[in-house]
Amino acid sequence: EVREIMRIDYVYKVVMIGDSAVGKSQLLSRFTKNDFCFDSKSTIGVEFQTRTVAIKSKIIKAQIWDTAGQERYRAVTSAYYRGALGAVVVYDITNRQSFNHVTRWVEELRDRTDGSIVIMLVGNKADLSSQREVPTEQAVEFAKDQGLFFSETSALSGDNVEAAFFKLIEHIY
Ligand code: GTP
Ligand code: MG
Repeated sequence: EVREIMRIDYVYKVVMIGDSAVGKSQLLSRFTKNDFCFDSKSTIGVEFQTRTVAIKSKIIKAQIWDTAGQERYRAVTSAYYRGALGAVVVYDITNRQSFNHVTRWVEELRDRTDGSIVIMLVGNKADLSSQREVPTEQAVEFAKDQGLFFSETSALSGDNVEAAFFKLIEHIY
């Protein structure tokens, strides 16, 4: 019998938050399955996906939780945030309102987690640059002010998706 045993040094819980339709679930499937879906359905309740990565010779299993941005489907209770070491706060660069709401998402995160959580602000849908409503500089400034890491991504093309998640996981480590 041949068995392969995967050594896991750490399990990191990471939560995805942000308005509905900004691309949280698609970022997650791009990162964990290298997959993208054009007609993705709004998330109902809570789901999670994992990806195991090696960082500085340690094997880290990232357990990434995803929930609905839509209020009526949200199941964001204290359980969602409990034990989270990292968070990805997502907005859509073509939707100004989703960026305006980031302040609220970050507040909620800070209310419900301890001060050591690592936060990555992500401006998604960077492939739709002709419809951009949020200038990069403004998000950079906001992230600097709030002490967040920042990246613009495209779950569609895959641009920067790995880099953003890796940066977050590295900083947790
Ligand atoms: P909720 O589950 O309702 O909170 O939404 P969500 O944030 O999980 O959004 P989801 O990942 O389901 O994506 C919403 C829509 O945006 C889908 O039609 C996706 O195909 C599309 N989408 C997601 N990411 C991108 C992207 O990077 N570029 C483009 N052009 N479309 C994207
Ligand atoms: Mg979703």
